[in-house]
Amino acid sequence: MSIRISVLVSGGGSNLQALIDAQQAGLLGNGKIVQVISSRADAYALKRAAINGIPSIVIDKNRFPKDADRNAAILSALQSASTDMVVLAGYMSVLSPSVVGAYRNRIVNVHPALIPKYCGMGMCGQHVHRAVLAAQEKESGATVHIVDEGVDTGRILSQERVPVMPGDTVETLAARVLEVEHKILPAAVGQLASEIERIK
Ligand code: GRF
Repeated sequence: MSIRISVLVSGGGSNLQALIDAQQAGLLGNGKIVQVISSRADAYALKRAAINGIPSIVIDKNRFPKDADRNAAILSALQSASTDMVVLAGYMSVLSPSVVGAYRNRIVNVHPALIPKYCGMGMCGQHVHRAVLAAQEKESGATVHIVDEGVDTGRILSQERVPVMPGDTVETLAARVLEVEHKILPAAVGQLASEIERIK
């Protein structure tokens, strides 16, 4: 019996692609991506879903200006797809407590830094790498964690470090961290899918 995974996206979808590739390689265990929910209608991640025959839905601020309505629509989409696990893959919004509570300990997020450093509200995407470089850190990395009601505060499932190289730019550091995200996210999703299957 498969563990039904809904993936939430906002942008290019390279993490979604890593999950799709892992599933096709049999590395997600019984995890099966059953839908993609995008917070943006122009997200290239939606194209990736279409190419791979994965149903998708756009739940954005245009269709749902109010936070509460948008999160109610997300919850409804998750339940309609009989979702067992939710993965935030480059998702740039914060889920409401009602969604987090409905999927307690079954939502994971990938963050492009070594939590508890460089995380929290506003610390997303390029802002993270800019702050790491400004602080002249010698290393950075990626973290996969359980999503709770806070921002980037849930239990850490895995982390991997990368060096910050002399002459690094936001772009070169982001690319090095993204490579690690593509590795540790599928591994953590596969692990959690097995744990959920055991208690399902
Ligand atoms: C990247 O900055 C990644 O670090 C973060 O979301 C952004 C886009 O990821 N998790 P993706 O290519 O849309 O998966």
